[in-house]
Amino acid sequence: MNKNMQNVKIIGTGSYVPENVLTNNDLEKMVDTNDEWIIARTGIKERRIAKDNETTSDISSKAALRALENAKLNPEQLELIIVATNSPDMIFPATACLVQDKIEAINAATFDLQAGCTGFVYGMITAWQFIVSGFYNNALVIGGETLSKFVDWTDRNTCVLFGDGAGAVVLKANKTEGILSGHLKGDGSGADLIKIPAGASKNPTSHETIKQRLHYVKMKGNGVFKYAVKYMKRSTISALEKCNISATDVDCFIPHQANMRIIEVVAKVLGIKKDKVFINLDKYGNTSAASVAIALDEAVRQGKIQNGDIVVLTAFGAGLTSGSIVIKWVK
Ligand code: COA
Repeated sequence: MNKNMQNVKIIGTGSYVPENVLTNNDLEKMVDTNDEWIIARTGIKERRIAKDNETTSDISSKAALRALENAKLNPEQLELIIVATNSPDMIFPATACLVQDKIEAINAATFDLQAGCTGFVYGMITAWQFIVSGFYNNALVIGGETLSKFVDWTDRNTCVLFGDGAGAVVLKANKTEGILSGHLKGDGSGADLIKIPAGASKNPTSHETIKQRLHYVKMKGNGVFKYAVKYMKRSTISALEKCNISATDVDCFIPHQANMRIIEVVAKVLGIKKDKVFINLDKYGNTSAASVAIALDEAVRQGKIQNGDIVVLTAFGAGLTSGSIVIKWVK
């Protein structure tokens, strides 16, 4: 490490989920599914759904303001805003620019980052590098999604899984410990497993793409499941090895909240005990790039993370992508 490089810690977390709750029983009235199947196969009981006029930048801004308040930082002090999302307000401009305007972070640089559900972990590692190198002194990283607007509400294979929400962290240069290591991976050979086929350069929106419902999420669930287990395990091990920490020393494991069965298998193969694993997917479903960010904020606010704890965030998602980050929690 360059001697000018510095450590980076999380100085604030925040999250926001829309008020509207959609339960499994509500879904029974929309598609051929039932509460028992959804709970047994996924662990999800309910999810939050944004209002028609509520956008990703709206809910991301609310999460951001909570994280800034928690960090005791004024928006104008922010130097960088990264929004990880797969459901931006528009293809362009970047949702990060819209958030910057809404929270009045007038001095910040802004960009979006798209890495499927791993986006928040990619965003944190990106921001970490900006601060470690001395380029910026602080950064706001947000995972924000309104995937409900991209889900086909007639497709039971996908519509029972996803929900809306946003989570955020404020990172800052720090003299002592903080983020210890990270790992990122892409595997485009699995790009077909989960995608939105139309609405961009490959299949621009047309009457035909709309008729074929190609502007909605399409997913091969079994293939994604196998990838998720394999790559979340590998990624977590890679990140832990880089900082010489054993999985049994992890105090709080925060995996992407996609499916309870995936989380259980990953924790088991890693040897992480159930009581160290943070779960909230029963309340929110899979909020994609927001999932780990919301879970981290809830874990902090519920007192599940204490000073000195080793915290691991890990995720996988469309791309395909996977990534993990190891943090020594310092106040
Ligand atoms: N309600 C009731 N039945 C359903 C259903 C639903 N919502 N969705 C699928 N089924 C049916 C299937 O049609 C199939 O019926 P069949 O046996 O008559 O063909 C049966 O349930 C089993 O389907 P299968 O796809 O094998 O179930 P599964 O155990 O693999 O669970 C997922 C499906 C989607 C829950 C699971 O594969 C999964 O979670 N995959 C990962 C998805 C993910 O994480 N995506 C996000 C990536 S970030």
